[in-house]
Amino acid sequence: MRGITFFVAAAGAASSVAAINVIMSNDDGWASCNIRASFDELRRAGFNAVISSPAVGRSGAGSLDLPAVPVLTGCEWDSCPALSPAIGFNASNPRLNYVNSMPATSAKYGIETLAPKFFGGPPDLVVTGPNIGSNLGLVNQISGTIGSASVAANKGIPALAFSGASGDQISYTELPTAWSDVYARLATRFTLIMTASKPYGPIGSVVSVNYPKVDGGCTSPKYVLSRVLPAGFLSDADVTTCGSDRLPTESDVIAAGCYASVSVIDPSTKTTANATAQALVKAKLGHLLTCLPTKA
Ligand SMILES: *[C@@H]1O[C@H](CO)[C@@H](O)[C@H](O)[C@H]1NC(C)=O
Ligand SMILES: *[C@@H]1O[C@H](CO)[C@@H](O)[C@H](O)[C@H]1NC(C)=O
Repeated sequence: MRGITFFVAAAGAASSVAAINVIMSNDDGWASCNIRASFDELRRAGFNAVISSPAVGRSGAGSLDLPAVPVLTGCEWDSCPALSPAIGFNASNPRLNYVNSMPATSAKYGIETLAPKFFGGPPDLVVTGPNIGSNLGLVNQISGTIGSASVAANKGIPALAFSGASGDQISYTELPTAWSDVYARLATRFTLIMTASKPYGPIGSVVSVNYPKVDGGCTSPKYVLSRVLPAGFLSDADVTTCGSDRLPTESDVIAAGCYASVSVIDPSTKTTANATAQALVKAKLGHLLTCLPTKA
């Protein structure tokens, strides 16, 4: 065992350790500016990433999973021609795949069909988004960003969901934008920190990050651990953070300014996961986490 550890460490020093295999999905569609910018950034950081996303934007589909059907009028922004097959890929870059169905359907296809093909087995991680628009509070119930990440969580695969308040629905052909590259850089750095040690996330939960607007000067938001909805009188305690066992809500964090919320979500309810799952994320993020300024 000691010999193997030494060998891995030595190989790591010489080149890089085995790449982490990532299936990416979203609900804005496979040609959306944000997912393409993040795909490029994750690849540059050494992740072995493959996109499996809807052929057209499917916001608000939650965890809907429906059979894929031929693309009669073509993929979003003419990214595939009319009468294209139900499932397709970019012939010059087969890592870019579309599924003409819902976000959860495309994530499932990525995990069950593309991962064995590209990685020889299940992915190490599923990353969804960055969604164009925030996913805060009750919106998580219908979010395709959370819905597609939930497919992974339900299969025991670590899942990170990213959302950003800035931006418009535009094609990757219009990159760079004032927001996609910022979110791509932030999400990649967050993913590097989560994957610095195993497990890459709490098994069975989704880690959901909401970034504030970044096109007005806030390009390095600080992270705050959050909960989806306000705690009720009978809610279980959250992990103790910043001197309290009641985390602020995602909406509180985003309203506070240049802060990003980090919530741990139970895929079966799309609400806050238990304190054990939160504690793992707190430990992994360490000094990256901060406290909100106390209200005057
Ligand atoms: C397909 O990949 C090529 C090469 O990376 C790229 O130039 C082209 O824009 C891509 N098209 C789509 C729809 O992804
Ligand atoms: C906490 O949630 C995880 C799923 O994220 C589950 O596996 C675990 O059993 C839960 N623990 C408790 C104490 O409820």
